[in-house]
Amino acid sequence: MLRQERVFLYVANWKMRLTYDQVCLLAENHKRDFERLATLSQDKKIVLCPSYDALSSVAHIFKKSPVLLGAQNCSSHLLGNYTGEVSAESLAQLGCRFCIIGHSERRQFYGETSQEIAHKIEQLAAVGITPLLCVGETREQYDRHETLQVVTQQMKDALKKCPHGLQHTALCVAYEPVWAIGTGAVASVSHIEGVIKQLTLVIQELALPCQVLILYGGSVDSDNASELKSIHGLGGFLIGGASLDFQKFEKIVT
Ligand code: PGA
Repeated sequence: MLRQERVFLYVANWKMRLTYDQVCLLAENHKRDFERLATLSQDKKIVLCPSYDALSSVAHIFKKSPVLLGAQNCSSHLLGNYTGEVSAESLAQLGCRFCIIGHSERRQFYGETSQEIAHKIEQLAAVGITPLLCVGETREQYDRHETLQVVTQQMKDALKKCPHGLQHTALCVAYEPVWAIGTGAVASVSHIEGVIKQLTLVIQELALPCQVLILYGGSVDSDNASELKSIHGLGGFLIGGASLDFQKFEKIVT
């Protein structure tokens, strides 16, 4: 699916910003609109990531549709006594093609470790779901000019033991500076370009057996999207707040 020359992914991360009813309403009310965006051109892919509870309903709404489904997390285990967790295989059965992993909100609020992130990628790769790995520095690390060091370490920790099965899928890496998430502060084009360059080097060094797409996330909105889209080597956006408002999302995509 990502094996085209140039693909640009628009991944809507709805987080836990909506209730189950609100997610269904957004998906149902804009079903045709999302589908229209997904068929605008071959290289634009629309991925919706609702919360776990709504995955099945959203999958049903977009059955046989060009709009793709993603999850926001998965268990690092295959199956077993893990109360409250959801396995990668179940996500695949629900129709998920993508799964966000290592989002800074999970690292920060749920203490998600690099080791868990590596295991989650392994679980996803085994069932053919494209992991969407998030990396990014905090404000303090940015101020100390440690961005490249931080994202390099996060990449290596997550991928150094190249997961078996990754050759059958693709990998997305979303550069999301923590200080840009939900704040309205967007990283500058030159800063993002520097990070993409570094991530590309790390990807080469790790010799990953799959296609890797690099995304940017952090306050992407209708008024900064066109400038960000011009960034060389960028393969998509991970969009939080602005993806909850269809009009804004549409402006970002078109
Ligand atoms: P934001 O969130 O677009 O609201 O900054 C992005 C994200 O957390 O993935």
